[in-house]
Amino acid sequence: MEKEQKPRQISDIMWVEKYRPTRLDQIINQKEIVKGLENLLKKPNELPHLLFTGSAGIGKTTTALCLARQLLGENWKRDTLELNASDDRGIKMVRERVKEFASIMKLSINQEEDEKPFKIIILDEADEMTSEAQTALRRIIEDSARTTRFIFICNYLSHIIEPIQSRCVIFRFSRVSEDEIVEYLESICKNEGIKFEEKALRKIYEHTNGDLRHSINILQAASASENVTIHQVQSAIGISGRSKIAEIIDLAINSKFNESRIKLLELLNIYGVSETDFLKYANEEIYKLQLENPYEVSTIIAEYDYRLANGAHAEIQLAAFLAQLGKLNIKNNKKSI
Ligand SMILES: Nc1ncnc2c1ncn2[C@@H]1O[C@H](COP(=O)(O)OP(=O)(O)OP(=O)(O)O)[C@@H](O)[C@H]1O
Ligand SMILES: [Mg+2]
Repeated sequence: MEKEQKPRQISDIMWVEKYRPTRLDQIINQKEIVKGLENLLKKPNELPHLLFTGSAGIGKTTTALCLARQLLGENWKRDTLELNASDDRGIKMVRERVKEFASIMKLSINQEEDEKPFKIIILDEADEMTSEAQTALRRIIEDSARTTRFIFICNYLSHIIEPIQSRCVIFRFSRVSEDEIVEYLESICKNEGIKFEEKALRKIYEHTNGDLRHSINILQAASASENVTIHQVQSAIGISGRSKIAEIIDLAINSKFNESRIKLLELLNIYGVSETDFLKYANEEIYKLQLENPYEVSTIIAEYDYRLANGAHAEIQLAAFLAQLGKLNIKNNKKSI
């Protein structure tokens, strides 16, 4: 039996979470935006709806969360709803939550002077919503004006219908510059006690083109040997993750569930291996084990492949897959050669 491990938080595992800013003044590169938002914060009661747009990994979601935290104070989590608009349940949930918020407001208004006058709904990936859903949203925005402020986030402004755009103050986020990315990666290395070559960090920028999230992930993948060289960066960029998959499978069939699950999370989130690729390579790795009775494993792989194809939650399903492998006692079934 595996020795009980203290489960690690995702923020311990992933540097993008560990180093996610918690205050607006920690956000890098987006100076004008930060200044504009800090101005708006001076008159919280007059805060308009906001729309953040720009490419991936440059701080849109982070900025929205910092703003909510600074605006609502201690209980910001209670009064902030973070929704992924591309989720099917999006519109329905927004409607229900807005109603819920509104009813709480009625009770608390006038009772506590300090009570912030509204709640915040962050709608991430709003450009993934159909225009019908966006139109429905427009009504919700109007009906809830007294109690709720929206922060819409999107990659493509042109996918947001005009009536929503016109109800918001729009902030355009820019890609992070080379010097700022390099400087930021340097500060992470120093904090982690890792040596680095500056040209290795510049190589990361070359590859990610101003996407800070991707840059931090590559740095983390390249830092395994505690010395980030250009060679390490190159292999982190080109990494297929296959050797990691073999390791994960090995841990799982030895019933080391916690360890295998943590490595799985790293593989999916840091190395960016897709969940279907994971199953495909896991399948190959398992066959290399030359099991005496591979049918049971085949059936399990097929079942999880089917669940993923049907849109089940990938991390939950794959963790369950690893748990199942651990229960099979495969090691004992191994063919004697
Ligand atoms: N401007 C920034 N300042 C500081 N850290 C940043 C910045 N942009 C990105 N990061 C880092 O990258 C991670 C991801 O950023 P964030 O989720 O805000 O990106 P995003 O713009 O919302 O991307 P996406 O469009 O893919 O959702 C953060 O946790 C943080 O570590
Ligand atoms: Mg985001």
